[in-house]
Order: sequence, then structure tokens, then C-alpha cells
Amino acid sequence: MPKPTVTFMCSECGGESLRWAGQCPHCRAWNTLQEFQVRKAPAGRGGRAQGGSSGRSQAAEPRGSRAVPLSEIDSEAAPRRPLAWGELNRVLGGGIVPGSIVLVGGEPGVGKSTLLMHAAQQIAAAGGTVLYASGEESPQQIRMRASRLGSLSAGILLLAENDLDAICDSIRAEAPQLVIVDSIQTVTDAGYEGGAGSVTQVRESAARLMRLAKEIGVPIFLVGHVTKDGAIAGPRVLEHIVDTVLYLEGDRRQELRILRAMKNRFGSAEEIGVFAMGEAGLEEVPDPSAALLGNAAVASPGTAVVVAIEGTRPLLIEIQSLVNKVTTNYPPRRIASGLDINRLHMLIAVLEKRASVQLGQSDIFVNVAGGIRITEPAADLGLALSIYSNTRDRPLPDGLVVIGELGLAGEVRRVGQLERRLQEAARHGLTRALIPAGAKAGRPTGLEVVEVRSLAEAISAAFLPPMRSGAFIKEAEASVT
Ligand code: TYD
Ligand code: MG
Repeated sequence: MPKPTVTFMCSECGGESLRWAGQCPHCRAWNTLQEFQVRKAPAGRGGRAQGGSSGRSQAAEPRGSRAVPLSEIDSEAAPRRPLAWGELNRVLGGGIVPGSIVLVGGEPGVGKSTLLMHAAQQIAAAGGTVLYASGEESPQQIRMRASRLGSLSAGILLLAENDLDAICDSIRAEAPQLVIVDSIQTVTDAGYEGGAGSVTQVRESAARLMRLAKEIGVPIFLVGHVTKDGAIAGPRVLEHIVDTVLYLEGDRRQELRILRAMKNRFGSAEEIGVFAMGEAGLEEVPDPSAALLGNAAVASPGTAVVVAIEGTRPLLIEIQSLVNKVTTNYPPRRIASGLDINRLHMLIAVLEKRASVQLGQSDIFVNVAGGIRITEPAADLGLALSIYSNTRDRPLPDGLVVIGELGLAGEVRRVGQLERRLQEAARHGLTRALIPAGAKAGRPTGLEVVEVRSLAEAISAAFLPPMRSGAFIKEAEASVT
């Protein structure tokens, strides 16, 4: 056996270091460096990128590829195996690519095993075989989940196993159409020291599964647990190795789950798929805007509807704010759920300065409905109006959608893909849109579009009754040329 070289790897960023240090030299995180063994590659297989297989499977793995003339390479993209759910296919870039490795990360309990059991069922229902290797749960637990999902299928083979050699042997023996390893943190390669879940084990096991996947053309899904503070080693150090990284997000107490592509060698890394967790597992949600607006209460002070673009599609999202005067001497609290807290601080400052709203003595809570996370500045104006609305205790009009980024001077800035946002609003029966002035976009029928240049104009346009706000609308219209 070649002698292992020891280096250190950060469980946060995957960065390597020759010496141990309290702080990672790459990402500056503390206490994240872990010992990491690099086994020298056997002669003829250059580079440590190839190293790391334990002796047993080495012989069976390919000795590298033969060079092929470029002109002889098949121009067809790899054939994909589509799943029954369009929402899953979208995130995967059109279906499962043979030989690809997909990491499905997420917090414990968010629904990773459930999602992959659904995927397994869909392959099995189409006549395929799926090998589900689990080191997480007992076969009885997995069977219970599967029967809850209605996926007790003979095409799904269960392997309760932690040992990587055994898993690889079983993959070769069964030659399934899909392999699921749940989770990568429970797998150990006997050729390495270190317990399951250590950086060495996680990385080397994934690298070996990757080579096997490429060799025999089987797609492998790896489950990886991540905690909010990234405390569990794993998925982060795998992001560079695997082909596709998907994260399942969502508030466990709510039903919506978002599967987000963070990296995809075979598709767009911006896509999301939307699902809802229910009594019988997950269901896909092909029209998330309808689901997100579905429980929108009758217009209440503090509620605003915005459109965020997620991946290639617009989503109508409801934002709620609660502004409460504090009577104690404690500093007011600002709590944002589903939004960047710094963005909230900025918008509060803009509201105070440009719209003369006194918020210094108020607690402010904002929440994005459905457990969705908004990262787009295009929601700024909507958030500002929602805070204003709650402060003044006046609801925004029914059927209003608010689109625009806010600058520090209180100016409303243009946002991308305005036309698609407006179409989505019209499609869901909204009747009036506030948008940045001067933006070029077709106007869908049924949607009255009001251009606003500043926060102050937006407030007038939103809150004054149409007759009295006519002046602002005219002014705004005059600016469109
Ligand atoms: P699970 O897929 O086990 O999560 P993970 O693999 O990410 O740790 O899902 C766990 C949660 O999902 C659990 O709290 C219960 C809930 N759940 C449902 O609400 N309905 C269902 O049909 C199933 C199977 C799970
Ligand atoms: Mg699980």
C-alpha cells in the first residue's frame, strides 16, 4: 500500500493546508481544519486527483481513457432519463444524466430521503432498477417511509450498508439505473483512517463513487446533511468533486420545499424546483405562485406582493411586516425571516430619510410567506411599502404587485425581466403594478401599470385613492418617452 501523506482540509470551504492551524488560511473559519490523508496514486495514473482508492477496487477501475479524435465524438448531449416530476427534471437540467454524480444537500429532516425515495419510485415505475444504499436508517424505517409514499416497489433494492467496498460491489453486481447513497456521511472506506463523516472519508468515498459512476455509466445521488452553521463536515468539501449540487430548503414547520441547483455541469445552476410536503410525502408544485398567494389573507396592513425571479421563472411572493412601537429603553429589534437583514436595515434607513417615517423606536419584523428566501433587490420597493403600510396601519390595495429596487436616495431602480414579472402578475389575476419608471416592457392586458420614480411617488401611487393620485400617475406617464 502506498504511504499516505497527511494534509489538512477545511470542513467549511474544502481548502487545503499543509499544517494544522486554528484558523483556515482560505476562508478564515475557526477550528475547521481536519486531518486529511492523500494516498499516492499508483504509478502510471498521474496526480493525486486520481489517488485515493483502496487497494481492493483499484484493479477493477479503468486505467484512464483513450484519446479520441474530436470529430469522432458524438455531438448528441448525453441521453437523460427523465423523472415523472417536471420540477425535478427542471433542476437536473432535463433529467438524470447517466454516469453523473448529484449531491443532494440540506438540513436534517428537510426531506432529502423522502425526495429521493420518490425519485427511486419513478425510475422503478418506468421499469428501472434502483439501488438505495442507506447507512442512516434501518430497512424497516425505510420500508415504512416507502409505504407511506406508495413506493413499495420490487424495482427498488435496499442495501443497509456503510462499507464503501460493499456498496461498490453491489452497484457492480446489480447494475441499476440509479444509485442513491443516503448519506455520504455514513459511508466509510476501509482503506482510510478516520470515522464516518470525517473530511477524508466523505471526500474519498465520493471520489471513488464518482469514478465508478463514470466507469459503468450509472448515475449516483449522494445525500449530504448540512446544518445551518455548516457544523457537519461533508457537502461543502464535495461541491468541487460532484457534477451537480442541489440543496433542498424549506422550513420544516411549513409545507413548501425548494430544491435549488447550486452547480450543474449538465444544466443551469440557477433553477429551482418546488415541492410541498404532506401526509404522503412530497408533491410537486408546478405553479408555485398560486401556492404562495393561495393563503394570502384579505388585504391587511403590512402585506405586499412582489415578484422574484428564481432560476428561469417568476414567483409571486407575499411579504409581511409588523412594526411595533417599543416603550422600553431596549434598542428596537429588527428581525428578517426569508430576507437579508442588512437589506432590511438599509430599507429602514431609506424609509426614515426619504419618506419621513419614524422607525427608530419600533421593533420591525418581516417575513416572507411560505418559507421562501428572497435574494433579489427587485423586492425592495415591495418590502418598503409593506413596512410603510403597517406603520400607517393602512393596507395596500387588493390586487397590487410592487416591483423595483430601491437606491439610497430613495430612487426606484429598474430590474431585469420586467415583462415576465408583469405577465406572471397578470396571469394570477393581479390588477395593478407599481414598476420603475422608464423601463421598457410590454403591458399585459388586465394589468394597470403605474411607473414610479421614487419611494415617495410609490407611496402616493399605492395609498392615495386613484382619483387623487392621478397627478402622480400623469407625472409618471410624462416621464415615459
Ligand atoms: P426525511 O426525508 O427523512 O428528511 P431528511 O432525509 O432530509 O433528514 O423527512 C423528514 C421529515 O419529513 C419528517 O420530519 C417527517 C416529514 N414527512 C412528512 O411530513 N410526510 C411524509 O410523508 C414523510 C415521509 C415525511
Ligand atoms: Mg434522511
